[in-house]
Amino acid sequence: MCGIVGMISQEEFTTIELLKALKRLEYRGYDSVGYATVEGILQKDTGEIDGFLKTVPEHRTRAAISHTRWATHGGVTKENAHPHAACGNLFFIVHNGIIENYERLRDQLHGHNYVSETDTEIIAHFIEEKIRNGLTVRESIETFIAEAKGTYAVLLLPRGEEKIYAFKKDSPLVLGIVPEGFVVSSDIYAFSDRSQKAIFFEDYEMAEVTATDYMFFKHGMPIAKEIKEFKVTYTEIKKDFPHYMIKEIHEQPAVAERLVTSLKTDQKHKLDRLSDLVRQARKVVFVAAGTSYHASLLGVHFFHETGVETQTIIASEFRNYVTCDEDTLVVAISQSGETMDVLKALKYAREQGARIASIVNVPYSTIQRMSELSLEILTGQEICVASTKTYTNQVIALLALAQKFGYDVNLDTISQRIKECIDTHEGQVKILARELRDCQDIYLIGRGLSYPVARESALKLKEIAYVHAEGMMGGELKHGTIALIEDGTPVVCLIPDEDYEMESNTREVQARGARAIIISNNSEFSPDFLLETSSDGKFAILATVVGQMLAYYIAKERGLPIDKPRNLAKSVTVE
Ligand code: AGP
Repeated sequence: MCGIVGMISQEEFTTIELLKALKRLEYRGYDSVGYATVEGILQKDTGEIDGFLKTVPEHRTRAAISHTRWATHGGVTKENAHPHAACGNLFFIVHNGIIENYERLRDQLHGHNYVSETDTEIIAHFIEEKIRNGLTVRESIETFIAEAKGTYAVLLLPRGEEKIYAFKKDSPLVLGIVPEGFVVSSDIYAFSDRSQKAIFFEDYEMAEVTATDYMFFKHGMPIAKEIKEFKVTYTEIKKDFPHYMIKEIHEQPAVAERLVTSLKTDQKHKLDRLSDLVRQARKVVFVAAGTSYHASLLGVHFFHETGVETQTIIASEFRNYVTCDEDTLVVAISQSGETMDVLKALKYAREQGARIASIVNVPYSTIQRMSELSLEILTGQEICVASTKTYTNQVIALLALAQKFGYDVNLDTISQRIKECIDTHEGQVKILARELRDCQDIYLIGRGLSYPVARESALKLKEIAYVHAEGMMGGELKHGTIALIEDGTPVVCLIPDEDYEMESNTREVQARGARAIIISNNSEFSPDFLLETSSDGKFAILATVVGQMLAYYIAKERGLPIDKPRNLAKSVTVE
C-alpha cells in the first residue's frame, strides 16, 4: 500500500512526468498525493493524482520524489500526506510501510516539532538528528535500519543535492534503469513503459543514486547487485471502455489464451517442475489472500478430484493454523507478489524448512524471488483494484497443474468459452444490474466447484458495488443464514451440471420468497444464465465472469468509483 516514485536524471524532467509515473502506481492507494524536488519545492494534498495535477504548477527539476498514500497512521489530511521533512528541512522523505516502534524512536529524540500524525515523520526527525550529531546521511540511515521495527521502503531526497537515498525492509523497492538516469519505485510499473531493466532491493539494503551512477550497501558495506531484465505487457489505455475493470473483464479471452500457450511452451518446463515438487511433498498447502485465496480454493478442489489432497489457508491466519516441515510444499498465489500477509506466511514456512513455490503475475516480485519455482500468469498489468483477469489466469494455472495429476479439462477451449460467455450474457447482466441497483444484500450459494465462485462473486459485489454480499456453501445456508432470506432477497444459485443438492438448496431459498438467480450449464434447471461449458474448471471461470460483470454493472448503475473503490488498495503491503 502506498506507491513511491523517485526520479533522478541527467536531463530535466517535469513534475507532471513524475506524477504520471506515480499515477501508474495509484492502484496502491489514493488517499493523498505529493512530491518534493531537489530545489525544495514541496506540494501535497488529499485526493487523487488527476485532481492534484489540475491544481499544482509544473516545475522542472533533475531529482524529485513522490508518493500516493493509503492511510495507516493518521487520517486523510494534507498534513499527513507525504513527503515529510524534519525541523531543519534538510531533506524530504516518502515511505511505504509501517514503523511499528515509532513512538519509542520518538521518545529517544528531543526538541523536535512534529506536524503530522504519521509514523513516517519519525524517519525524517530520526535521520536528521543523527546527521546533526555528525553522522553522514548513509550512516544515519544505517542507524535507522538498525533501530526501526516494522516495514518500510523509503526514499530520501536531500535539498540542494542531486541524489536519492533508497532503503527498505519488507516493503518492495526497485531501481529502474532508464535512458536518462534512474527511477526508484515501489514496483516496476512506474517505469516499465520506458525500460525493462531493474535492480530489486532485498531487505536491509540501501542505495545511493545519482543521475549517472548508483551504489548499493548492506549493513554499511558496499554490495554488488545484478541487473535483471523483465517483460511486461503494458496496458494503460482504456480505449473504448469507461473503466479499467470492464476493459480487464474483456481482456480475459486474450490473456487466457496467452497463458495456455505459454504453459505448453515457454513455461512448460516450470509447470513440469512444479508438478514434481507437488509429487515429492508429503503435504501441499496453498496460501493466498482475497481473490487469490478463492482461486486457491478451486485449486484444492481440482486436486481433490484427482485424489491428491491439498489444503489452502488465508495468508493472515497461516501461522495460527498450519505447521510445516521440510516435506511441506507451500504454494503462494498472488497477483502482486507483494501481499504482506502472504510474505509473512512464506517467511514462517521457510523458517520451518518448507519448500516454497508460487503462482504470480508481477515478474520479480518479492514472492517470486522467495520461491524456488514460480509460474507467471502473464496477464499484464491489472489496473482496477478489483482482480478479474488475474483470477481467471490463476485458475487456469491451477487447472494446468491439476491436469498433470489427471484432472480432465480441455484448456484449449477456455479462451473461446470466456468470449462467448461475455458476448452472450453481458446485455442480460446489464438488465439484471438495473433491477438489483438498490438491493442491500445479495447471497450467493455454491458447492464444490461453484463454492469458490460464490465467494469470489460476493467479494466483487462488496468491493466494487458496495453491496453486502455473502458467498456461502449451499449446504451451510440453512444452518443460520437462511433466517435473513425475505420476500425478494436476491440469491445467486450456482448449479454445475447435475448438482441436485445445489438445486435443492435453490428450491429451499425460493420457498422462502428469495429471488433466485440461477447460473448453470444445465438447461434442466431453467437457468437465468445458461453457460455453454462442461462441468470442470471452465464452469468456475465462466460463472465468475458473470459475477464480475454483475458487480461491475451494479456499481455503474450506482455511479460508484469502480476502478478505485473507497478504502481499498490493490497491493496490500501492510499486515
Ligand atoms: C480482489 O479484487 C482484491 N484486489 C484483493 O482481494 C486481492 O485479491 C488480495 O489483496 C490479494 O492480492 P494479491 O493477489 O496481489 O496477493
